[in-house]
Amino acid sequence: MQATKQILSLARARLTSHKSNLPKYVRAYSDAATRQVTLIPGDGIGPEISAAVQQIFQVAGAPIEWESVDVTPVMQSDGKFGIPQTAIDSVIKNKIGLKGPLATPVGKGHRSLNLALRKEFNLYANVRPCKSIDGFKTAYDDVNIVTIRENTEGEYSGIEHTIVPGVVQSIKLITEAASRRVAKFAFEYAIANNRSHITAVHKANIMRMGDGLFLKCCREEAEKHRQIRFSESYLDTVCLNLVQDPSQYDMLVMPNLYGDILSDLGAGLIGGLGLTPSGNIGEDGAAIFESVHGTAPDIAGLDKANPTALLLSAVMMLRHMELNSYADRIEAACFGTIKEAKYVTGDLGGSAKCSEFTNAICDAVTQL
Ligand SMILES: NC(=O)c1ccc[n+]([C@@H]2O[C@H](COP(=O)([O-])OP(=O)(O)OC[C@H]3O[C@@H](n4cnc5c(N)ncnc54)[C@H](O)[C@@H]3O)[C@@H](O)[C@H]2O)c1
Repeated sequence: MQATKQILSLARARLTSHKSNLPKYVRAYSDAATRQVTLIPGDGIGPEISAAVQQIFQVAGAPIEWESVDVTPVMQSDGKFGIPQTAIDSVIKNKIGLKGPLATPVGKGHRSLNLALRKEFNLYANVRPCKSIDGFKTAYDDVNIVTIRENTEGEYSGIEHTIVPGVVQSIKLITEAASRRVAKFAFEYAIANNRSHITAVHKANIMRMGDGLFLKCCREEAEKHRQIRFSESYLDTVCLNLVQDPSQYDMLVMPNLYGDILSDLGAGLIGGLGLTPSGNIGEDGAAIFESVHGTAPDIAGLDKANPTALLLSAVMMLRHMELNSYADRIEAACFGTIKEAKYVTGDLGGSAKCSEFTNAICDAVTQL
C-alpha cells in the first residue's frame, strides 16, 4: 500500500509539473466537449479488454462516447464478404476508432479484416511507440522508439501473378505520393511529440529504384524540417543495432514490410505485443487505434487478458484528439499499477484477473 502511494504521488508530481508546461490550448481540453468514437471490440478477448478500457475511461471522466460496432463480415451484393456498411458509416462519421483484435478465419473466403479496414479508410501511417515500462523488467531498460510504417503499398500491394508455372512474380509497389505522405507525417509527428531524430530504414543499395524513391522523399522532407536530425540506415544494420543498443534510435520511418517486422521487434524489446499500443493514421483526420496482439482464443472469456495494449492505444487516441490531460492521467495510472506489480495479469508474471487489474487502474486514476 505504501509503495502504491509512493508511485501515485510520484506520478501525480510528474503530471502536475508536466501540466504547467503545457501550452494553453492543451490545458483547455480538460473542459472538452464529449466526442463520439467508434469502438470495434473485436473477437476472442476483444470484448473483455474493450470493456476494461471503457470502465477506466468512465472513471477518468474522459469525454468520450463510444459507438460500438460489429465488423463480422457480411455478404455483399457482388457475392463477396466485406465489412458491414453500418460499421463503415460509423467510422466515416466519427473519424476516430478504437479496435480490439479480430480473428482471421482460415479458408472462409475473405481477406484479413485488418487489411480491409486499412484500405477502406486509407490509413497510410502505422505508428507504434515502444517505450520500456518501469517495473516490467526485460533485457533492455532504455527503449524509447517510435516506428512509423508506410501502411498502404510496398511489399503488401497484393500484386502477384504466375508468369509461367513454377515462376511467381510479387510486385513491391512504391509511389512518390505515398512515400512523401508518410515521410511528411513522420516529421510532423516528431515535431508534435518532441522527438529529435528520424532514421529512414531502407535497402536502396539493392532496391535502387523502389527504396531509392522512398529515401528521396524522406530526404526532401528532412530538408523541409531541419529542426529534426535525419539519418539513413540499411534495414539489416538497424536490426543489428536495435538488439545491441536500442537507445541509439528515436524514430524510424520505413516502407511497409520493414515496418511490419521492426515494429514487432520493437514490441519484443519492451516485453511483447500485450504492452504495445498502435495507431493507424489516415487522411482527413481519420484514425483507428488498435492493440496489435491477436484474439488470444486460449484465454478468451476467462478474465485473464491483459488490457494494457488496448488501453495504451486508447491513450494514443486521446493524444491524437488533443485530450492530453486525460491521456496523461490514465497512462500514469496504468504504469503505476504495473510498477506496483500487485494486480497484474499472468502474461506480466502476476496472477490477477483482467477485472482486478482494471479495478486497480481505476483506483489509481481516482487518486491522481
Ligand atoms: N490485430 C489483430 O486483429 C490480430 C493480430 C494478430 C492475430 N490476430 C488473430 O488472432 C487469432 C489468434 O492469433 P495467435 O494465437 O497467433 O496470436 P495471439 O496474439 O492471439 O496469441 C498469442 C499468445 O499471446 C497471448 N496473448 C495475446 N494477447 C494477450 C493479452 N492481451 N493478454 C494476455 N495474453 C495475451 C495468448 O493468450 C497466446 O498465448 C488469429 O485468428 C489471428 O488471425 C489478430
